[in-house]
Amino acid sequence: MGRAFVYVILGGGVAAGYAALEFVNRGISNGELCIISQEPVAPYERPALSKGFLLPEAPARLPSFHTCVGANEERLTPKWYKEHGIELILGTAVKSADVKRKTLLTATGETISYKILIVATGARALKLEEFGVTGSDAENVCYLRDIADANRLLDAMQSAPGGKAVVIGGGYIGMECAASLVINKLSVTMVFPETHCMARLLTPKIATYYEEYYKSKGVEFIKGTVLSSFDFDSNGKVTAVNLRDGRKISVDMVVVGIGIRPNTGLFEGQLTLEKGGIKVNGKLQSSNSSVYAIGDVAAFPVKVFGETRRLEHVDAARKSARHAVAAIIDADKCGEFDYLPFFYSRVFALSWQFYGDNVGEVVYYGDMSSGETFGAYWISKGHLVGAFLEGGTKEEYEAIAKTTRLKPEIDDLDELQRQGLGFAVTI
Ligand code: FDA
Ligand code: NAD
Repeated sequence: MGRAFVYVILGGGVAAGYAALEFVNRGISNGELCIISQEPVAPYERPALSKGFLLPEAPARLPSFHTCVGANEERLTPKWYKEHGIELILGTAVKSADVKRKTLLTATGETISYKILIVATGARALKLEEFGVTGSDAENVCYLRDIADANRLLDAMQSAPGGKAVVIGGGYIGMECAASLVINKLSVTMVFPETHCMARLLTPKIATYYEEYYKSKGVEFIKGTVLSSFDFDSNGKVTAVNLRDGRKISVDMVVVGIGIRPNTGLFEGQLTLEKGGIKVNGKLQSSNSSVYAIGDVAAFPVKVFGETRRLEHVDAARKSARHAVAAIIDADKCGEFDYLPFFYSRVFALSWQFYGDNVGEVVYYGDMSSGETFGAYWISKGHLVGAFLEGGTKEEYEAIAKTTRLKPEIDDLDELQRQGLGFAVTI
């Protein structure tokens, strides 16, 4: 058995939702587009899962955070897809793909053929087992990638009121989940191998600000070591984590955020891969002209840096999705994707944004001790290439974004420090 579509989006996450809206805005006919997703629900704003979804009061629940509310656009409920003649094939994993035949085979045994395929399969959370630790399928060990994981985390949290949580990993998931656990009144210890949190992005100085803030909320940090094993009770629940430095910490629950791997498996040997993702050109088109890739799984040319990057952030997912659809429908009018990397996070009462690249010398501004607005610029080869700001206003964030895109020449770092945020605001 089989069905045929003009356009198929493989994956039903953030990028898929934004691509669907762009298809509708640009005009498609009933029955031309289908989305296949192994998740049981229509595309939603994944960032909500580590923030609003975990709040003890008035938590975010579907359908409130279906895409594309995160960009203040229409909320695409299952009804919306129906009304626009878009087939949503949910709860269905694609098991294999044949880009020569232009077909996908689902776990239910259906063959779905396409003229144009958009791969939006995102990524999967890395498991502790990949680092030689066993037992991470215990019911009180939680990863966080999709809504099923988020429900599991909620259950674990609710079964351990006032209890002790260990968070493994000092990246985005670790920091955001630690904050949510504290808000839910669990006591939290964070364990990670680096010397400071958010090591991929933050400098030690900026990271120290966040660590001190977390400590003021009761979070303990154990740095420079990793988990070596779990202790279990007779029901298979984890009771303690053992660290490589010899320490043992008793726990009621564990949250693990140790990075991701893009879901490229279906296309290995069929499409060119780079930086762990599917390599695409400035139209988001892969090495096979009928296959596009968007979101976390796509490695695309970032013009401002003159190199190919794979970005694991929601803004890139939304914008790459829109650009791919523009390139597919209006190929002649559509230029090359020209994306300025943008990352953000919100924890407790804090909120920061980062634009560009974190390479080169760092110039700090503002008063970190006051806990108010502060930030940093990154200067590489005489140009401003990156900007970070904590606690800014909408206008200030727009100013640092605009400035980073302009890549202004900087010859006096002291003067830049003196001007601080004013440099971006007045440029
Ligand atoms: P996404 O993972 O959203 O979707 C992929 C979809 O493909 C999933 O539905 C998956 O089930 C499906 N799929 C995969 N393989 C399949 C197969 N073989 N068959 C069928 N379906 C398949 N970013 C940010 O900038 N700010 C933030 O605050 C956050 N916060 C945040 C919180 C949490 C908890 C997570 C997990 C992630 C974030 N992110 C984030 C990252 C952001 O959510 C991420 O970059 C986007 O979701 C990427 O969108 P994609 O559509 O590429 O993948
Ligand atoms: P990450 O790459 O941000 O951080 C991974 C962390 O894992 C590292 O900082 C390190 O401390 C730790 N680590 C690595 N190996 C380890 C090991 N063997 N033992 C213990 N710790 C180890 O990844 P993440 O935090 O898992 O986030 C997953 C994905 O979700 C990323 O793509 C991220 O961008 C995305 N996300 C983004 C946001 C945001 O942008 N605000 C929020 C949540 C999630």
